[in-house]
Amino acid sequence: VPETRTDYDEIADRYTRELDAAVSFAGRDHEFFTRRKAGELLHVASRLLGDPKRLDALDVGCGVGLTDRFLAGSFASLTGTDVSPGSLERAARANPEVRYELSQGGRLPFEDASFDLTFTVCVVQVVPAPERPAFVAELTRVTRPGGLVVAFEHNPLNPLTRLVVARCEFGHDARMLGPAGVRRLFEDAGLVPAESGHVLLFPSSRRRLVALERRLRRLPVGAQYYVAAHRP
Ligand SMILES: C[S@@+](CC[C@H](N)C(=O)[O-])C[C@H]1O[C@@H](n2cnc3c(N)ncnc32)[C@H](O)[C@@H]1O
Repeated sequence: VPETRTDYDEIADRYTRELDAAVSFAGRDHEFFTRRKAGELLHVASRLLGDPKRLDALDVGCGVGLTDRFLAGSFASLTGTDVSPGSLERAARANPEVRYELSQGGRLPFEDASFDLTFTVCVVQVVPAPERPAFVAELTRVTRPGGLVVAFEHNPLNPLTRLVVARCEFGHDARMLGPAGVRRLFEDAGLVPAESGHVLLFPSSRRRLVALERRLRRLPVGAQYYVAAHRP
């Protein structure tokens, strides 16, 4: 199958509608999954870096700013960047307290070592494989020594996740990779993997189920997974 590239500018208007249509069979809307993922990111960051309120955070490939909505106010600062100006416009409208900057020419528009936490949600899979090392090198460059890079991606082993990606208009450009693939990319960029785990196993926010899900995070069953790595 040839690699295709979604024009995220063109679909910015209907991104959330498409997402909801694709995940509807799980009985939850995209907000549920996004809120849970934002919660997991904060949980991982607190454990590996300390109080999020002291961290400068960057969302790379922020799209229309869905994740940022659940993170605004949790960090010392939150910045988002994307290659799609149309998506950034929407993100800025939805999250006026977040700073948004356009990425161009394969370079993130920030100085070296600008952030404590650099995260990216469902982006590595849409970056064409030959461009992934350069993409991860940029994540690494803008992260402070001692800081953390975290990637959330779809779990290719989860059949429901595959169904969501197949149902989604913009799923066709995703070339899913597993956590071992992300860890390898991170290590090749000089990052030191600290932790990985699977998330979104139960479509519930009940505290006991969230706690159980965290205990089961090594099992490759959740809808998505994350890999967190330190910049030495
Ligand atoms: C599947 S969407 C995910 C958006 C958002 N993170 C979310 O979870 O809703 C992928 C996003 O990555 C962006 N993107 C693709 N390649 C990128 C790159 N090299 N640098 C920054 N953003 C990129 C696209 O424009 C798109 O907004």
